[in-house]
Parts: sequence; structure tokens; C-alpha cells
Amino acid sequence: MSSETSGSIRSQAEAPTEELSAEAREVVAYYDALASTYDEERFGNSYGAYLDGLERRVLRSWLQGPRVLDLACGTGRFLDLASEGLDLSEKMVERARERWPGKRIHHAPAWSIPAADASYDSVFALHFFMHLHLGDIRRVLSECRRVLRRGGVLVFDFPNALRRRLVGFRATGWHGGTELMAGDLRMLGGGHWRLTGSRGLALAPIHRLPHATRPAFMAAEVLLGRTPLKHFASYQVVKLEKVD
Ligand SMILES: C[S@@+](CC[C@H](N)C(=O)[O-])C[C@H]1O[C@@H](n2cnc3c(N)ncnc32)[C@H](O)[C@@H]1O
Repeated sequence: MSSETSGSIRSQAEAPTEELSAEAREVVAYYDALASTYDEERFGNSYGAYLDGLERRVLRSWLQGPRVLDLACGTGRFLDLASEGLDLSEKMVERARERWPGKRIHHAPAWSIPAADASYDSVFALHFFMHLHLGDIRRVLSECRRVLRRGGVLVFDFPNALRRRLVGFRATGWHGGTELMAGDLRMLGGGHWRLTGSRGLALAPIHRLPHATRPAFMAAEVLLGRTPLKHFASYQVVKLEKVD
């Protein structure tokens, strides 16, 4: 994982130049089509607001600044917590640039970040790794390692394979298709990262609970998501520190 990370700055072009795989193009086409309704569809309801609240708390407590990259930033939901963003969907980037006119938002694949080595103190990627094959996750981890300073942190989430097995859930296709176990991280990270934080998100079947009870559940989740019960949550969010 280290050999391909020795280059200095990547292309500063604000449009991807490399040939993308058919699957990457399919993912981008999906998000291009979704961009105008993404915020409302995904986070405009009380389940989305609940998840957003949980994720935001974790990001606030883990990110180190001031140089923070929101990788696969989408429409810029979390760009208030970042100094820069990046996304491969042109339409998502357009929305994010409209929403955050003062921020630099790159249009590029996550495995080819247009930034010099050690440019960032933190990189985070929410609702993203679930779309990638393991080979692409390795490429993204390698690229994050290149652009982070030593001691910098990478925060990302993934669907929890253990929970899915317990409830018999099987994803079809690339959308949410990649699930991980906490133990997979060591294999994917190749020994260059230290796991310094992990939380469970969406422990309760929140979409089945009455709306009025959700705020109370969020308080419980914040506490339970730190206990061993986190291993049974729908999503895991982890903090990896770059050690070399
Ligand atoms: C589910 S959205 C998440 C957006 C944002 N992180 C959030 O949590 O609201 C996934 C995002 O990943 C982006 N994406 C997919 N493949 C990508 C890639 N290879 N490189 C960069 N961005 C990618 C999509 O365009 C989309 O905006």
C-alpha cells in the first residue's frame, strides 16, 4: 500500500482525467440524477435527521483541524465541518459549490485527490465506502494516507456485516453492497493505521419507532453506541490514525 503513495502533488485539474470503470460511471450517473433531490429525499425526513444528528456528533468530537477534507462530500451536508470537499459526481459538486461558495470543492475520484502529500489534518467520508469494492477501498485508504499528515485522522462509516448477518439482510448491487467487520480494517489498512475510535450508529430500528420517541432514543444511542452493543448497530463509524 505504500509504494504508490510516494508522488507529490496530483493533477490540479478540477475534472477527473482518468478512465473510470463501468461501475464507477454507473455510481456517478446515479448520483448525478439524484443530486437535486438528495438532501430532501435522504435527510429531509425524521430518520435522516436522526442519522445526521448522530453522525455530526461523532465528526465533531473526532475531527482534528484546521485542514479537513470531506471525501465524497455529495451536496455538502457536512461541509460546515470541513475546509474542502471532493466528489466524483459533477451534479453533486455543483450543488455543493452553490451551497458553500467559499469552499474549494474538487471534482475527482476519491482515489486521486488533487492535493499535495500531507495536505490535511483530517479526512472523513460518510455513506461512501459502502459503494466501493474492497480493491477500491484499498486505493482510497492509500490515497488518504498520502494526503494526511502523520498522526492525522481518517473517519468513515460502513454497514456492519455482523448486524446484517444477524437480521438476514442481503444487499443487491453496488448500493450499500459493501459491508465490513471491524476486523477487516486491519487487513485493508495494511498496518499503516491505528484504530483509535469506533462507534455504532443506528442501533434501534428507528424507522419503526413513533416520531415523538426519537429524540429520547437518540440520547440513548449516543451512550449505547460507545458500549460493546455498538457491534450490533447497523453502521460502524471508525477513526483511524495514520501511523506511518
Ligand atoms: C450517499 S452519498 C454521500 C454524500 C455525503 N458524504 C453525505 O453523507 O451526505 C455518496 C457520494 O459518493 C460519491 N462518490 C461515489 N463514488 C465516488 C468516487 N469514486 N469518488 C468520489 N466520490 C464518489 C457520490 O457522487 C455521492 O455524492
